[in-house]
Amino acid sequence: MNLRKIVIAIDGYSACGKSTTAKQVAKIMGYKYIDSGAMYRAVTYYFLEHYVSLTNPKDIENALDRIKITFHVNEDKETETFLNGLKIEKEIRKMRISDQVSQVSALKPVRIAMVNQQRKLGKDKGVVMDGRDIGTVVFPDAELKVFMTADMQVRAFRRQQELLDKDKMVDLLEVMENIHMRDQIDTTRAESPLRKADDAIEINTTHITIDEQVEEVVRQASSKIIQFMR
Ligand code: DC
Repeated sequence: MNLRKIVIAIDGYSACGKSTTAKQVAKIMGYKYIDSGAMYRAVTYYFLEHYVSLTNPKDIENALDRIKITFHVNEDKETETFLNGLKIEKEIRKMRISDQVSQVSALKPVRIAMVNQQRKLGKDKGVVMDGRDIGTVVFPDAELKVFMTADMQVRAFRRQQELLDKDKMVDLLEVMENIHMRDQIDTTRAESPLRKADDAIEINTTHITIDEQVEEVVRQASSKIIQFMR
């Protein structure tokens, strides 16, 4: 049986477990996983490496013309981010990128370029994409939209653990400050601010496990697919 493929958009605040959930949902459904935040992180990495001025539109346009972001699945079945052919997966997760990424992703030309690429990546459907504006701007017609939230302390603690697992020592307060600053910028920026789409289902992950989050999204996705069979 040829089941109809859908687009699953997962948006929400920083460190709510969006990407962990999205990755596992994609694996279960046999869908492609696209981490749109990694694309903004890759642009930020390029801007920092090449001293691109965030206040010089010409500089920004020139830099964007030179940026090619791709994703590859490695032997462990993990998706890794490449910038102009160079693997930058580890680099883009560092605090120096987290500290700048919201400023870079608030720039209109950056958003236009990334949204174009994201739409191309999702044009054949069968995709789970996580970010801040996937259900509102990138795929306003996505069949399933999820908006994830969680308490600040839980989010900061989970993000710190994630960094520790990658041997990156960061104190909890620093993580909390970074998450708070990014929430602030992401929700108040002029260009496609983070907000819940009217037709998104909300999942608060404070008191639930990753498995429960994943199960809920897969359940919702299956019910959408079944609706299309009727
Ligand atoms: O998901 P993340 O924390 O890796 O995202 C990094 C930043 O990129 C986030 O602070 C805001 C920005 N972002 C965005 O503006 N739009 C998206 N669709 C995804 C991320």
